[in-house]
Amino acid sequence: MRIAILGSGGVASVLAWALREHEVTVIARRPFRRFRLIGSGIAGGSVSFPVSVRDWEDPTDAAWDSVWVAVKAPALPAVARWLDRNASVAPVLLWMNGMGQEHYLETARHGPLWPVVVTMAVSGLRHGPTTRAFHLHTLGVSYLPQAAYSALAPLYDALQHSLAWRWEWLDDEALRRRRWVKLVQNSIINPLTALAGIPNGRLPRHPLFAFAPPLAAEARAVAEREGVALSPNLVDEVAHLAQATAGNRSSMLQDVLGGRPTEIDAINGYIVYTGHQHGLQCPTHEALVQLFHRWPKTPPLP
Ligand SMILES: NC(=O)c1ccc[n+]([C@@H]2O[C@H](COP(=O)([O-])OP(=O)(O)OC[C@H]3O[C@@H](n4cnc5c(N)ncnc54)[C@H](OP(=O)(O)O)[C@@H]3O)[C@@H](O)[C@H]2O)c1
Repeated sequence: MRIAILGSGGVASVLAWALREHEVTVIARRPFRRFRLIGSGIAGGSVSFPVSVRDWEDPTDAAWDSVWVAVKAPALPAVARWLDRNASVAPVLLWMNGMGQEHYLETARHGPLWPVVVTMAVSGLRHGPTTRAFHLHTLGVSYLPQAAYSALAPLYDALQHSLAWRWEWLDDEALRRRRWVKLVQNSIINPLTALAGIPNGRLPRHPLFAFAPPLAAEARAVAEREGVALSPNLVDEVAHLAQATAGNRSSMLQDVLGGRPTEIDAINGYIVYTGHQHGLQCPTHEALVQLFHRWPKTPPLP
């Protein structure tokens, strides 16, 4: 299969590695044609393999079987431009956190747009001019829409066989609920660990965790208006998740430490925006969005 992977960070690298038996092209902000991906933390040791690369601005003449988007939300304008020029009918899988990307991309030309809920944990590491390194902590479970099954079944069978990577196929309602649960978990763990400058495991005992109950309550009210019932024990569940991923640095913390734009708008901002659509205020989420927009400095390393 011919697959374009948009992005060349941690998740994109894992996807390129998983699909390496196929004709994969990575779309990246780099001017060279091939680079070598070096992965660690993978069962059986490390891996190193070459990947074809195109710059975002290069036209491609390939008829893609599918396009897999694995960027952070601030790259969505580049994604929309690329899809318009290169992917007229190809189905698009969004391997991203946050919500609202479908609305952003709906005017771009492409085939069906399928969001994926990603629970893998991977870190992009330092890299040289023609290499990218990543460390895969866990593949986790990926939740995909049932509608994508027929297009992806051959790939899925091979991935199950070679990697034992679990994919679950959910109907629209179950996937939407799963996305909301992940959104709310991210809306608490990501900004609070980024503000505190701590790994996930220290969050439940940190004073900033006092924001968790109002964040959960506001998000639950918005989700309910969207027809999604979330657990009444969200705060305990988030504390449990933070402990289960104790050593992880959230992606927002990594972005802040790296001086990169964060996904605050696609996560907490999406909750605020959706709340407004229903006449609901989400003052705690809104305060965090404002804080991140105005925050000029990165916190000290823990
Ligand atoms: N990492 C995880 O464990 C994990 C787990 C679950 C979900 N996710 C979600 O998966 C998505 C991808 O995450 P990631 O960890 O792979 O991110 P990442 O390592 O930060 O990589 C982001 C990629 O986007 C590119 N990019 C950023 N801004 C761009 C722009 N303006 N134009 C073009 N390209 C741009 C970067 O290019 P450069 O390399 O040139 O900067 C990089 O290739 C995010 O939504 C994240 O929240 C990640």
